[in-house]
Amino acid sequence: MTATPYRIVKRREIPARFAPGEPISRRDYLLDGALRTWNGPTQDVLSPIVADLGSGPAHVVLGSCPAHDPDTGLTALEAARKAYDEGLGDWPTRPVESRMACVADFARRMNERRDEIVRLMVWEICKSRKESEQEFDRTIEYIDDTLATLRAMRDPSRRHVEASGLAAVLDRSPLGVVLCMGPFNFPLNETLATLIPALVMGNTAVVKLPRIGRLLFWPLMSCFAEAFPRGVVNIVSGGIELARPLMSSGHVDVLAFIGTSRAAEALRALHPRPNRLRCVLGMEAKNAAIILPDADLATAVPEVLRGAFGFNGQRCTAIKLIFAARGIAQPFLEEFANAASKLKIGLPWEEGVNITPLPEPGKTAFLDALLADAREHGAKVVDIPGRPAGALDDAFFAPTIVCPVTPNMRAFREEQFGPLAPVAVFDDVEGADGPLRAIAHSDYGQQASLFGGDAEQLSRLATRLRNLVSRVNINCKCQRGPDILPFTARRDSAVGTLSVEDGLRAFSLPTLTVARQTPANAAILDVLKRKERAF
Ligand code: G3H
Repeated sequence: MTATPYRIVKRREIPARFAPGEPISRRDYLLDGALRTWNGPTQDVLSPIVADLGSGPAHVVLGSCPAHDPDTGLTALEAARKAYDEGLGDWPTRPVESRMACVADFARRMNERRDEIVRLMVWEICKSRKESEQEFDRTIEYIDDTLATLRAMRDPSRRHVEASGLAAVLDRSPLGVVLCMGPFNFPLNETLATLIPALVMGNTAVVKLPRIGRLLFWPLMSCFAEAFPRGVVNIVSGGIELARPLMSSGHVDVLAFIGTSRAAEALRALHPRPNRLRCVLGMEAKNAAIILPDADLATAVPEVLRGAFGFNGQRCTAIKLIFAARGIAQPFLEEFANAASKLKIGLPWEEGVNITPLPEPGKTAFLDALLADAREHGAKVVDIPGRPAGALDDAFFAPTIVCPVTPNMRAFREEQFGPLAPVAVFDDVEGADGPLRAIAHSDYGQQASLFGGDAEQLSRLATRLRNLVSRVNINCKCQRGPDILPFTARRDSAVGTLSVEDGLRAFSLPTLTVARQTPANAAILDVLKRKERAF
C-alpha cells in the first residue's frame, strides 16, 4: 500500500452476501479433460479493497491460484491440438447439434454458479454488484443468442445454392486451435464472447485467464470439464509470458485477445507463419463525444456522464475525450461538473455506487500523471462542487474533469481507462483543428458520439465519422451492446468483428461441397443435401 487508504472497510459494513470467507486457494486447473493439481508456485489474489478484518488495514486476500509455467502452457496447447487432430478429431467433425448441446449444457451449469461468480467479480475487480450481475446475465444471454443464431444460419435455404449447372452445399468449418485471452474489465463476458463461438464452430482452445479477474473462473472449471469432451477446453493461469511460447510454436491458429495493441502486436509477431494466424483483437480506444453548439444539454450531460464514468471509465467503449463547441463549452462544463458531483464514490456492493476502487496496480498514479501533464501544458482541473480531484489513494480516483486539453497533452492522445474526463474546446467541427481531424489523426478508431439538434448536420457528420470510426452514436453514449450489432473498429482499436453472428463467422471459414448437376450425381446430391451434418 503506497498511500493512506481513502476508505478502510470494517467487517460489519460488508453485507452478508459479500462477507469475505476464507481465502480460496486453488491448485486445480483444467487440462486435457481432467481437473489436475498444480504443484508449482501460486499467485495471491488480492482485492483492491482495503479492509480491517481484525488484524489491521490491508488489501483483502481473496485466495491464490496457479502461476503456471510456459511448459504447462505448451502441454495445454498440445491437448487442444490433439483434440483438434488436424481437423479430423471428434470435436471438429461431430455434428454441430452435438457441439451446441455441449454449449447449452455448459450455460446451464454456469447459471447455477451465478452468485459465486458475481461475488468474486465484486471483490476482484470492484465492479458494482449491479454491473457484475449485468455482466453475468449478458454473458448467458450471449450464449443463448449464439445458439439461436447458429440454428438460423444452418437453415437449408441459406446453405444450398444451384448455379451454372452446379449444386453447392455451403458450410462454415473451424480454423483450429484458439488461444483465448480476455481482459480484466469484462473478464467473464469478453472471454466467453470469443471462447463460446470458437468452440461451437468446432475449434479447440487454450484459455489464458486475465491477469486480474481470474479467481472468478474457478467456479467454471468443473462446468467446462463436465460439459466438454477431453482436450476441447484447457485453462491456464499466469502472465503474458505464458502466451509467448504458445505463439512461437506456430501451433496457435487463432489469437483471440482483448488488451493493449502493444501486447497484441508483440504476440502476433511471435508466430513463425503469420499467414496461418487469424487474429480477433479488441484493443485500446479513445472514443470522442462531440458537443455541437445546438446540443440539448439535458440529454448530452447524462449520456456523457455515463459514457465517461460508467464502471469508472473502464469500458473499452467509454467516452475518453470530449470536444465541446466554444459557444456551449461553459454551460456544458458547469452541468457536467454538477452531475459529476452526484456520483457516489464507494464500495462495489453499496446501493447506487458509481466510482469504486480501480484494480490495476499503479493506475491512480498513471491517471495523476496524465492530469499533471495536462496541467503543465495549460489545462485546468474543472471544479466539481464539494469534491476533490485526482487520486484519493492507490485504488480510488475521484471523478475528474480537465479542460481545455489540446493535442500536445497525453490526456488528449492516450487511453486513460479510468475516471478522468478530458474536455477540448473547438471552433469548427470540420476545421483543421476540429474534432473530425483530431479523430482522423488518433491511433484509435472505435466509436464516437455526436450531440446536436440539426438533423442535416448530424447526418453529414455521421457519414464522415463512419470513415474514421466504426460506430457513430447520435445523442447517446458509445457502447458495444446490444450484442447483435457488429462490434469492430479501425486502426489500433480492433482486428476483426464481433457480435453474436459475426463471432460465429470470426472463428470459422466458409467452405463448400460442390457437384455437377448430372443424372449420375443425383444420388450423391441427394445425400449431400439431406445428410450434410458438419456445419
Ligand atoms: O469494454 C468493453 C465492453 O465490451 C463494453 O461493453 O459498451 O456494452 O458496456 P458496453
